[in-house]
Amino acid sequence: MQPKLKSKVRCADREIGEVTNVIVDPLSHEISHIVVSMNGSGERQVAMGQVQAVTDNFVELRSSSSEIVALPPFKRDEYVTTHEVEIPHLEENIHVSPGEVLVPFPELEKSVKRRTFFMNLTNVIGFLIGLPIAFPVLRYLMKPMYQPFDNDWLKIGNIGKIKQEDIGVQFKYKKKVKEAYMPESEIEKNVWMLKATPTVLNQVYQGKDMEFRDAAGKTVWTNKKDIPYVAFSGKCPHLGCGFKWRKHKVLGQVFLCPCHLSIYDASGKVLDGPAPRPLDALPIRVSAGGEVEIIDMEFKAGTKAQIRII
Ligand code: FES
Repeated sequence: MQPKLKSKVRCADREIGEVTNVIVDPLSHEISHIVVSMNGSGERQVAMGQVQAVTDNFVELRSSSSEIVALPPFKRDEYVTTHEVEIPHLEENIHVSPGEVLVPFPELEKSVKRRTFFMNLTNVIGFLIGLPIAFPVLRYLMKPMYQPFDNDWLKIGNIGKIKQEDIGVQFKYKKKVKEAYMPESEIEKNVWMLKATPTVLNQVYQGKDMEFRDAAGKTVWTNKKDIPYVAFSGKCPHLGCGFKWRKHKVLGQVFLCPCHLSIYDASGKVLDGPAPRPLDALPIRVSAGGEVEIIDMEFKAGTKAQIRII
């Protein structure tokens, strides 16, 4: 009689667990071992030579429980079920459900290096075959990531709106944007403008003209250090929140970001809070009639260095 799954396993001295699997010799189709679950202390592989008798509900072993406990733990990963490998005509000889029958892992499969080599080789061949088809698709999908920056000038209002020096004045404007594969839409943005006194202007420019470059390093525009109008991007360099021009009870008039309380003076210098760099000045030009235009650049938030992203 063949051992049945779930049969109780009894040693000469006591019951030790139950049969969870049988292991079959794939050539002879004979059960070579049973796998015994040891009542919560792992599994052991017991040779059929140890089996003294098999009844409907029990498998009796010749060994003592201490001898079985002393066997090395069963290494389940060295076996596969007969669900995973087909052993022809096995059911004719073994009458247990196929999923519970284990056979030793084939030697070839154990050679992971060899298997990995062939898997990698197959992947490389597949990649080379698929490349001519995939390349145009990838190029189309990745195109938005490599769009050049938009350096067009945008009209944002008239300078007549600024009535006092060194006071932040918000200019709102609309911009058309096209996000990757979405249809074009219009979003509202803003900058903070300043007509700076020479002192504040010098703090902004530190005595040098301010150059703006494109991704290739070519100069797009230069803000001259003696033109008193300054435009700051409306996004806080900390994490990109919008900020306001506010009266601070100790510091006086400042740019204040409500998100994490970064505070900047009129020149954009950080006075307090987590902001890693001053406010981002933008390219600006003012026509003879007072029309203000900017190039709407955006910079990475949270970095000390000013890294252009739009
Ligand atoms: S986003 Fe402005 S302080 Fe954090």
